[in-house]
Amino acid sequence: MIRVKSDGVCDIDAPGGRIRVPAVGLAVVAVFSRPRPLAEGIAALETQVAGHQGALELLSTVMTLRSAGVLEGAADLHELQFDAMGEGFAALPSHAALLADGPRTLGWLRALRRAVRPGQVVLEIGAGTGILSTAAALAGARRVFAVESTDVAGVAARVADGNRVGDVVQLVHGWSTAIALSEPADLLVSEILDDDPFQEGVLEATADARQRHLLPGATVIPSRIRLLGVPAELAPEELERHAVTPELLQRWRDQYGIELASLIESMGVGYVVNLLRKHTATWTRLGPPVVLADVDFATDFPTALSTVSELQVSAEGVCHAVLTYFEAQLDEESAVTTDPLRGDGATSWRNPVFVLARPRRVRAGDSLRLAYRYPGSPSLELLP
Ligand SMILES: C[S@@+](CC[C@H](N)C(=O)[O-])C[C@H]1O[C@@H](n2cnc3c(N)ncnc32)[C@H](O)[C@@H]1O
Repeated sequence: MIRVKSDGVCDIDAPGGRIRVPAVGLAVVAVFSRPRPLAEGIAALETQVAGHQGALELLSTVMTLRSAGVLEGAADLHELQFDAMGEGFAALPSHAALLADGPRTLGWLRALRRAVRPGQVVLEIGAGTGILSTAAALAGARRVFAVESTDVAGVAARVADGNRVGDVVQLVHGWSTAIALSEPADLLVSEILDDDPFQEGVLEATADARQRHLLPGATVIPSRIRLLGVPAELAPEELERHAVTPELLQRWRDQYGIELASLIESMGVGYVVNLLRKHTATWTRLGPPVVLADVDFATDFPTALSTVSELQVSAEGVCHAVLTYFEAQLDEESAVTTDPLRGDGATSWRNPVFVLARPRRVRAGDSLRLAYRYPGSPSLELLP
């Protein structure tokens, strides 16, 4: 049952009780009255709302209806990020997908609330919707510089205003490496970690901030970032989804009448793909995780990385891939991980995977040498 009040606000009887949503809730229910991908439904609804504020209201209504069980079976919001990535971080759906990732967002919020002291100056690099900058201001910061390179900066300003801290949060529209601040900050917070955590420029941005924007000894969140790798065996259906196998080549030969075996030759040792955790969580691990890169901002501000790591094999099997994930230490108490086996892990990132062009049979005691480079293409490479 849906009741529409005179101001357009809707009361909806949801499985867990009655919920109240803004007028746009009616349009959301209408659009999703037939099954369709979440991104498609939101794209249809975006034409019915005005401006950033309207878009934010729409997305939060979709999230409310979804968590109340009204939008049953809707695709996972975190997958929306990848549908919306064409427009990158200028597109609001990509930010909604980040906010929908509870372990990510709560991890950063908690560490930030623990760290901010009343009267401090906080710098956020990559403010997005402004959630962290607003939280810093609400935690007592005297000034928050919210630096954002895309037009989503306008949303961040409205979010700060909506939380009555618009006078504390100062939006700076531009790249952190290209702007100047009127005073140095006591604390730097950023969540500019990509699937490969270093690819979005966190090293360059943090090193530059330390030199130009921060007081000596400033707190940095995240404080440490580690990239880890695990040798893995894939079940046949997963293997065919992500690798070019002899069986797949045979099927394509039959289906298309073309011999494509030279594809494997062209792949060299293998290639890197970024995969959702719903795939990578099912893989059999053939050894313990090994640290491929480790950056501790307490002591080190590198802008390039180049490592070679030995992955130890502890179980017999066929190594099809090396799965990687990261751990971002936020403060002494908390960390966020993209380890697909961690049920409490973050969901808005994918796992970079090095797929071997030719799978290797391995036994306990064997080791595999993996190179990691940032910047570098490929970033991961299995060495002979
Ligand atoms: C993953 S989003 C995080 C947004 C927000 N902080 C949150 O936690 O929801 C990263 C944002 O940082 C911005 N960004 C990345 N590097 C930046 C830089 N060096 N300077 C300014 N903005 C940056 C991107 O445009 C994007 O909006």
